Parts: sequence; structure tokens; C-alpha cells
Amino acid sequence: MEKHIVILPGDGIGPEVTKAAKGVLETTAAQFSHSFTFETQDIGGSAIDNHGTPLPENTVAACKKADGILLGAVGGPKWDNLPGHMRPEKGLLGIRKQLGLFANLRPVKGFDALLHASPLKAEVVAGSDLLIVRELTGGLYFGEPRERRNNGQDVVDTLAYSRHEMERIIDQAFQSAQVRRSKLTSVDKANVLESSRMWREVVEEKKENYPDVEVEHMLVDAAAMKLVTNPGYFDVIVTENMFGDILSDEASVLTGSLGMLPSASIRQDGLGLYEPVHGSAPDIAGEDKANPLAAILSAAMMLRYSFNMNVEADEIEAAVHAVLNEKYHTADLKVEGGTQVSGSELAKKVSEQMTSNDTTENIMRCYA
Ligand code: NAD
Ligand code: IPM
Ligand code: MN
Repeated sequence: MEKHIVILPGDGIGPEVTKAAKGVLETTAAQFSHSFTFETQDIGGSAIDNHGTPLPENTVAACKKADGILLGAVGGPKWDNLPGHMRPEKGLLGIRKQLGLFANLRPVKGFDALLHASPLKAEVVAGSDLLIVRELTGGLYFGEPRERRNNGQDVVDTLAYSRHEMERIIDQAFQSAQVRRSKLTSVDKANVLESSRMWREVVEEKKENYPDVEVEHMLVDAAAMKLVTNPGYFDVIVTENMFGDILSDEASVLTGSLGMLPSASIRQDGLGLYEPVHGSAPDIAGEDKANPLAAILSAAMMLRYSFNMNVEADEIEAAVHAVLNEKYHTADLKVEGGTQVSGSELAKKVSEQMTSNDTTENIMRCYA
């Protein structure tokens, strides 16, 4: 198959991790006789530096024509004092909004090889396998007005949702639950927020269409606690934009590192932007220390969700499992008896694993 992929490296460790993921995509193309073409565009701080805006028109136009988009990360101290509309993060929010990528899927699965790498007890993490379905183009992130008032003495942000915006993400979450373990936890703050009360109403209405899915409501503060005390309790979590952002970073501790968590930001027709959950990690940028696995697993999600290449995605995920089982890891993970390598070395190990002869066996092991 021929696919055109736009890469948005962004800032900090973004260029390092997207380079790693591109390498793995090239390995996939060679192995399965696909033709992937790549195009790189600016976003975030690097786009501010090169074009004076965090989201150049060229970038949006290229993404609109792409079959899939892979993003690294945006932001960094260099741009932290710019006004809100000029910040690097505005580029990421803008591309999500302009492409209508309303559903952010963030799978969190404890890898056996990393059970002891989590600060949580291994018995708490063992067997956890959940999916956070985060609403991505509404809520506090986009509501108007958002401004300082009264000479900077007052401030307002706005949490706004339309019923339509709630319905489509809740439908997505029910459908995700149907192909997993059929359990949906809707997370809100309905004891305080009117938006959450409406969210609950929509979930209650929608559940009639999905009688096979067991659904419950949970307040976000309680959900935050349960995520680290009993993560195995959850299958699919659906929640609004801000809560989903916070809960997904929290959930990353199950895997041992934020550098492990991939995500897909998708819309109904299948176009997707694939992005690690982590940020630009300015503290380690440029040192080849960044864990590339979140970006590599995001590329696998692109193959699965946008290109319908399930075997190819399985292959990448199995190779990641195999490399972790061999105890290779980057500095963010503490693996007893393991071998610490650089980000680029770890990515190379994944590609080597894919081209080695025992990949089928690895796929079997991964799903055993
Ligand atoms: P961060 O995710 O960049 O880093 C948090 C911590 O995790 C740091 O200690 C970092 O070194 C570590 N970390 C993150 N990814 C890692 C990886 N792949 N390998 C090893 N360690 C990793 O969050 P932050 O420090 O709060 O934010 C830094 C900048 O990134 C900010 O400008 C923020 O706005 C931006 N950000 C961007 C995105 C995105 O582009 N999707 C996401 C989150 C934060
Ligand atoms: C994420 C990030 C972004 C978000 C920021 C950088 C705008 O934290 O993708 O999780 O809050 O959505
Ligand atoms: Mn975040």
C-alpha cells in the first residue's frame, strides 16, 4: 500500500522520538512491501522561530492531505513567556481543532517486563490494561471568553460543550468498550459542574444503544485515586478534555514512565494524528536519552487505526515487547539487571527485532 505520512517533530525531544518512529515505519514498509512517503512540517516553538506562528498554514495544508500524521511534542522554556495565542502549545491545540480530531485514545498497558519499573507495587500494576478516551477539541481548552479583566486582577476561562460534542466522544467510548472488555467508566465532576451533569445525561441516553456494555459514573477525584490503587478495575474510561489530560499522565506510572504512553487523536473518517502522551522534556532534550517507545507505539497505532494494517502494528508492538523482555531500556526506566541504552539505540533494537526471524514467535508470546 502507498501511504503519505506527515511528520511534525516539534520541539525538545520531539525530533529525536519522531526520527526513531520514522525508522521503525521504514522497517515496516520494507518488511511488508509498502511504500511510505514522508514529509516534515514545522509546529510549535520551531514553527514560531521559522515562521513567526506556532501553526503555519503550510503545516495545516500538508496535514489535511496526509494519510497519517505523526507528532513529537511542542513547547519549552524558550517560548514560555510568549502571550497565550503565540505559545507553541497553541499549534498543537490548533491542529487538533482545525482537523476536527475530537477523540484522543490513550491506551495504558503494564508491560510484564516493566512491572518492577513502576513506583507502584507490582501486584497493583499486574494485569492492568485500560484505555482513556479523552475528548480533545472542547471544554476548558477552547471555551470563550478566556481573558484577564479588571487590570489583570480578575481572570476567566470557560468550560463549554455542545451536546453534539459530548455525544460523539461518548459514542466512540462505547464502541471502544465493545471491542475490549465491555466496561465503561464515565468520569466527571457532576457533584459540582453543570457540564458534568449534562455529560452524565448524555451517557445515560447513549447507554440504551449499547446494552452489551456495562457503564458506571465516577467522580474524577475518586477516579484519580482508584487509578493508582486498583488500576485493574478499569477497562475504558471516557472523560472531558482537561480531566483526560491529567488522568493520562497519572496513568503513565503504571507503565513505569511517561515515555511509554502512545496516543491517537482521531476523527470519524479515520484521519489521525498520532502523538506520544509526553511533552518535549526540555530537561533531557538533545542528549539522546528520551525513551522513543511512546512515539514508536504511536506509529503502530497509526498503522492500526488509519491504515488498517493490523499485522504490521502487531509486529511493531511485539518487537517492543521483545526488546523490553531482553531488558533493554532508556534512562527513564529502572529495570533491575537491565541494560541502559540511548534512545536511538533502543529504537534500533526494535527495528532489528522486527527483521529478525523470530518475530512470529514474538507475536505469539505477546498475545500468550
Ligand atoms: P514532559 O512530558 O515534557 O516531561 C515530564 C517529565 O517526564 C520530565 O522529567 C521528562 O524528562 C520526562 N519525560 C517525558 N517524556 C519522556 C521520554 N520520552 N523519555 C524520557 N523521559 C521523558 O512535561 P513537562 O516538563 O511538564 O512539559 C515540558 C513542555 O512540554 C511544556 O512546554 C509543555 O507544554 C509541553 N508538553 C507538550 C506536550 C505535547 O506536545 N503533546 C505534552 C505535554 C507537555
Ligand atoms: C497533551 C499535552 C497538551 C494537552 C498540551 C501540550 C497542550 O499536555 O497532549 O497531553 O494538554 O492536551
Ligand atoms: Mn498532557
